[in-house]
Amino acid sequence: MSKTRQLIDLELDKGAHNYHPIELVLTRSKGSFLWDVEGRRYIDMMGAYSTASLGHCHPEIIKTLTRQAKKLDVTSRAFYNDQLPPWLDLLTSLAGMDKALPMNSGAEAVESALKLARKWGETVKGIPKDRCEIIGCEGNFHGRTLGLISLSTEPQYRRNFGPLLPGMKTVPYGDAKALAKAITPRTAAFIVEPIQGEAGIRVPPPGFLAKAQALCRQHNVLFIVDEIQCGLARSGRLFCYQHDNLTPDLVILGKALGGGVYPVSAVVGRGDVIGVFRPGDHGSTFGGNAIAAAVSMTALQLLSDPKLIERADRLGQWALAYLRKHLAGAEVVRDIRGKGLLIGVEVAPEIGARPLVEELKIHGILTKDSHDVVIRLAPPLNIKKKHLRQALEAVTKVVQKARVPVS
Ligand SMILES: Cc1ncc(COP(=O)(O)O)c(C=O)c1O
Repeated sequence: MSKTRQLIDLELDKGAHNYHPIELVLTRSKGSFLWDVEGRRYIDMMGAYSTASLGHCHPEIIKTLTRQAKKLDVTSRAFYNDQLPPWLDLLTSLAGMDKALPMNSGAEAVESALKLARKWGETVKGIPKDRCEIIGCEGNFHGRTLGLISLSTEPQYRRNFGPLLPGMKTVPYGDAKALAKAITPRTAAFIVEPIQGEAGIRVPPPGFLAKAQALCRQHNVLFIVDEIQCGLARSGRLFCYQHDNLTPDLVILGKALGGGVYPVSAVVGRGDVIGVFRPGDHGSTFGGNAIAAAVSMTALQLLSDPKLIERADRLGQWALAYLRKHLAGAEVVRDIRGKGLLIGVEVAPEIGARPLVEELKIHGILTKDSHDVVIRLAPPLNIKKKHLRQALEAVTKVVQKARVPVS
């Protein structure tokens, strides 16, 4: 039996079956490449869902991680550590905001933002006790906690997990009129992904985010952007909301914030909103630990380099144009969209993206289907152009020759 089979069978036997991975077992990573246990090399067009934006095992990140791990590790927030304050300072100054709250996973940071919104709603806006409402968008993905699946519109994410949280509403993504109708005096916040990643790299219609922000301002509703996947240079701007010149009240970050090696997330935003938390209101043992802060500091320094951001923008435009040109008229293609190096190729539902993604693996290209019908292309932002071209050539070849099955 191959090593791959042995390891997969062991995982299937001993692990919970809450994922459906592509069948290969990775053992090494470097830059834009991944290697499996059989010694095969792949170009990473997946970027760990936007986590590996700096490429894998970036030397500066590894240097910081190992240096910090040998010096001061996890001491909890029972004490101050010397890495957290400068990290908070850098993060807030990059975002042009007052305060930040460190967490670990993306879902935890979104939960934190919604708790902030509820407490702000009751204590500042004056919404009656236990009556706060949060509005989200259809197709959203904010994470898997009970609170966040209560906002989800994906039946599988909710089924059998009830009772879900009350006070959660959704409006169609991109529909400002529906948002205007949905807002009531009890609305504390509107939360939106500037690009919906898990829904299949969905970009909202131009002007929607600005209109949503204006409505929030008009009705004293917090405007929260979830940039866990589309933020930190991924879209060709440091923050995706900068495409629309927005000033959100809270921004949620994660994934790439940990340099690809450590779970780090954060809520960044208005001091008077984050300031509603008092000691004991919220916390996390690992949040803001010295290793997280040090690694994330290096990650932020690298991700905020204007040359990296500008390159992601330029390379993304080139990749989008390449795919649109070379896949023009391809039988199975329904849409090609994205911003920066977050691109989706939507194919006919009769074929779905999974078989195409499986075939790309044979060509040495790794990615994953998103929302069943979208091939996600989100490589490290510093991928060499020749490797990106190689990956796009393979995508073109595989997608061009695919046919919609005759039923
Ligand atoms: C936009 C967005 N929000 C939140 C999350 C949840 O992050 P995590 O898986 O780290 O909890 C994700 C993960 O894919 C995401 O894409």
